Amino acid sequence: MGGRRKDIPNSVRERLLRAARKAMKSSYAPYSKFHVGAAILTSRGDVFLGCNVENASYGMTNCAERTAIFAAVAEKGPKLEVVAVAVTNDHGVPCSPCGACRQVIYEFGPDATVFFQGKKGWTSSHITELLPEGFRLQ
Ligand code: THU
Repeated sequence: MGGRRKDIPNSVRERLLRAARKAMKSSYAPYSKFHVGAAILTSRGDVFLGCNVENASYGMTNCAERTAIFAAVAEKGPKLEVVAVAVTNDHGVPCSPCGACRQVIYEFGPDATVFFQGKKGWTSSHITELLPEGFRLQ
């Protein structure tokens, strides 16, 4: 079950991680001071960047991963297919996508590979490992 799992070449992973680190520099995180960057690769080969954007009303915060996906939809339209996502943070600590972001990644990338710093170092996971039984409206 699940999608066809495609191997992402190391060179692509490195490119995405570099892009995520660049995006991190734009992060607006005056409250948590935890700067996060994300980069997504689309099936058409485009890379989009995102960073976390916080708010004085904390719950309005948008994570880096969702920012990247929403930027891609805004730029390229609703047929977006996310192939891979990379996430970095400026604390060098484990940081996998939050539950909300997992669901948003799944919407556009049911076969996406996610690169992030896990508890045992850098890791890659299929989105369905991170989000079993992701929701789809049918
Ligand atoms: N954050 C992200 O942007 N992505 C993640 O994967 C984890 C958390 C942000 C949200 C908030 O601005 C800050 O990190 C602390 O939670």
